[in-house]
Amino acid sequence: MTALVVVGTQWGDEGKGKIVDLLTEQADAVVRYQGGNNAGHTVMFGDETHILHLIPSGILRDTMSILGNGVVIDLPELLKEIEELRENGVEVQGKLHVSARSHLVMPWHRLIDQLREKDKGEKKIGTTGRGIGPAYEDKVGRRGIRMGDLRHPETLLARLQEIIAEKNALLTHLYEASDQCFDPVSIQQEYLGYFERIQPFVTETPVLVHSLVEQGRRLLFEGAQGTFLDIDHGTYPFVTSSNTVSGNACAGGGIGPRHISDVVGIVKAYTTRVGSGPFPTELLDQTGEFLRSEGQEFGATTGRPRRCGWFDAVLVRYAVRLNGITSLALTKLDVLDKFETLKLCVGYRMKDGSIQTDFPFEGHDEVEPVYEELPGWNTKTAGITEYDQLPKNLLDYLARIEELVEAPASIISTGPKREDTIVLQPDRFWKS
Ligand code: IMP
Repeated sequence: MTALVVVGTQWGDEGKGKIVDLLTEQADAVVRYQGGNNAGHTVMFGDETHILHLIPSGILRDTMSILGNGVVIDLPELLKEIEELRENGVEVQGKLHVSARSHLVMPWHRLIDQLREKDKGEKKIGTTGRGIGPAYEDKVGRRGIRMGDLRHPETLLARLQEIIAEKNALLTHLYEASDQCFDPVSIQQEYLGYFERIQPFVTETPVLVHSLVEQGRRLLFEGAQGTFLDIDHGTYPFVTSSNTVSGNACAGGGIGPRHISDVVGIVKAYTTRVGSGPFPTELLDQTGEFLRSEGQEFGATTGRPRRCGWFDAVLVRYAVRLNGITSLALTKLDVLDKFETLKLCVGYRMKDGSIQTDFPFEGHDEVEPVYEELPGWNTKTAGITEYDQLPKNLLDYLARIEELVEAPASIISTGPKREDTIVLQPDRFWKS
């Protein structure tokens, strides 16, 4: 079997970028299968920090990088990312492949996303404002534009006329934004210009994926966002608009389930979330503030401060099951270095007094977390690269997490750099 899937087990920002980067060393290709430039991966490479939004971080290692059909692409943003990589000496030609079936995030998607959020006021989702929701809506509503559609200027114009008529009506009559209406001909011209530049990268990525599978190559499917932002399984409606769970690697990447041998769940040693929505273990006090500053918890895409809280084993255990996680990569344990005691949420006390250990359908705002307390290690672990040097209390914290969420740890990250990592079972990946 040739495919490994990496997914976030919480609300995103678990540190996937670094782990994907690490595992990419052993991979022949990295495939993104959902989301768009709402994602933001921070990868430290030597002394340089790279933030990538669309292109898989594998590109920094010269690994073949594929944007699958399930990804939604803001074309000018993708071109900008390519340019920035080139300016930093990373060439993408011959390494980056973009699915002809991927849908485009068009300017009206961005605009409508932002106008809607503004209208919602207090009740807003807290989206990244990148037009992701409206783009997926149009995909499912069969009025989207796919990358490959840019090959045909005439049919493109006809489609744009139809689509833009509807968008302009919406902008004029619902959002009172007639000054921001779109013109089909100028959009056609603008996008044909972009297409000229992206064309060398556009291909039928499922065919490429199949040929790699046939050759027995190692594929890494990189999930964006996290399990609880999944459109079906997350804290709806405070979710993103795609399936973030590992199962979508198949639909969004163009591979059959039988080729997947490993699913690595990325788990932050505490919990964070950006945007609105329920968060049972959120800490609105100084401890939350401390986690934010120690963990540098500010969004890579929007710069928004992330909400912070204790580790929630109810969430992660549910994520282990949903994704079929075979092992865990624990990140940011070093952020907990200065704590005397740590809390782990082992269940939710519901309004009726019952204790739930499966993530419930509703009532997340009202549940009371049931905590277990463990002693902290209160010593510096940042940068440790030998398992034997980790303090006993950290290993106990880790062991309790493994027990509660029912999955073994395979990787421990002790800092933002590639080398700040302990791989517990180096040979375990890509084995059937
Ligand atoms: P959207 O994906 O921009 O529509 O935003 C929907 C929700 O997902 C919001 O709460 C965002 O903050 C959250 N979100 C989207 N992308 C990411 C990500 O990469 N990391 C963390 N949260 C995200």
